[in-house]
This record gives sequence, C-alpha cells and structure tokens, in this order.
Amino acid sequence: MRKRFIAGNWKMYKTTVEASSLARALAAEFGGLTDRRVMVAPPFTALTAVREALAGSPILLGAQNAAAELEGAHTGEVSPRMLRDVGVAVVILGHSERRHVYGETDALVNRKVKLALAEGLEVILCVGETLDERQAGVTEKVVGGQVRAGLAGVASLAGVTIAYEPVWAIGTGRNATPEDADAVHRTIRGIVAGLYSPAAAEALVIQYGGSVKPDNAAALMRMANIDGALVGGASLKAETFVPIVRFDR
Ligand code: 13P
Repeated sequence: MRKRFIAGNWKMYKTTVEASSLARALAAEFGGLTDRRVMVAPPFTALTAVREALAGSPILLGAQNAAAELEGAHTGEVSPRMLRDVGVAVVILGHSERRHVYGETDALVNRKVKLALAEGLEVILCVGETLDERQAGVTEKVVGGQVRAGLAGVASLAGVTIAYEPVWAIGTGRNATPEDADAVHRTIRGIVAGLYSPAAAEALVIQYGGSVKPDNAAALMRMANIDGALVGGASLKAETFVPIVRFDR
C-alpha cells in the first residue's frame, strides 16, 4: 500500500515569524499522524525557524529547490548538502515555475535529482504540461519525456516521489478533473513500470498539484493513481491545509 503524501509548497511567501507560526499550528494538529506523510516547504530563509517549530513533529521539512552542485562559485544557489545541514529531508525539484520562469531544462533537473538523492535527500520530481501542450494533445508525450529525462541515471526509486502538476492548473483555480489527472498518473506509472519494474511502479507515490483545495481534495485522492497532493496557495493557511491533509476524515 502506498502511503498518502501531502506536501505544502509555500513558494515565496512568509517571513520567519509567519512561517514558524504556521508550522507550530500544523505541528499541534498533526502530532500523532502516522497513516500519511505530511511535508511543508518554506522558503530557504525560514527553513531553520520551521525546523525548530516542527521539533518532535512527524511533519517533514522540505525545500523548494536545490543546486546541481555541492559547493563552489555559484552565487545565489543553495546546495543539497546545505539543505541537509539545516535539517531538510525532502526537496522539490523541477517545479514548473523553475522550468518556465527560470529556464530549468530537463537535463538540469536530472542533475539536481541525482545529486540530491546522492546527498541523502528525498526528491519530489515535478512534471506537467502547459495549456498549449494539453490543447495540442501532447500531454502524455511531454509528461513522459519529463519523467524519463528527470529519472535518467537514477538507479532506484527509493526516495523519489513524482508530482504531476499541469501548468494551467497552478494558481489558477482551475484544477484538472480527477479523471483527467488520474489518466496522466496512470501513464506515469506505466512509464515507470517500463523503466524500472512493475513493483517499483506500484510502490511509486504520485502527487497531484494544481489548485488543490479542501473541497476538491477528497475527489482527487479517491482516484486509484492519485496518492497525495502538492499544494500551493491552500497550504499557506492551517485552515485550508489541515482539511486537505485530513481529506478523508
Ligand atoms: P496552487 O495549489 O496554488 O495551484 O499551486 C500548486 C503548486 O504549484 C504546488 O507546487
């Protein structure tokens, strides 16, 4: 059985004080949570404050990006080793905002994935098509290409989660229907079965992301291939993130 994995991506929101206050509220809610995994990914500047606020809580500390190098003359970058150093367990890589706003290529994302895994971080590899690509009928080709390229040279999927985030559904209030999302998740699982093994595909946790809210989380998560969520806007407040994590309660 795949364990549900619900992650909050706080993007470029929250000061250290705001971040620790939200983290404390979530830690108080999810003290005894064992049947699902929960993660929050604050901005780099708030990682330490959030780690302290989450002390003793099962909530995982995530980061939103990592460099493809361990150290060196890379102004403005943060390496996976530095993330480990401040207590990060999981890193989001290849988010569509990194790909489309900051020009990250599949090849760069793949280098980041391999280095982060080698440094002992778990990885959430994000994939997803744009509206133009969906309308052109190439969703599965695009997403499949991102999965294959992102995982190239990755020997084992231990520590890898995939997040399917259709770009047109992010921050738009326009989410994919549960059936549409599930179809893409099924395609991803099929590709992974071919690349690795049917057992690895069966064990792979695939999150859906893009306008996940308290009122649509249950319907999405009910689908056979949707194992969790990567939540943006609705993860910024306990009152919307908590019911998403407890979608089935
Ligand atoms: P929204 O939930 O705000 O659409 O963002 C989704 C996302 O990009 C999570 O990584």
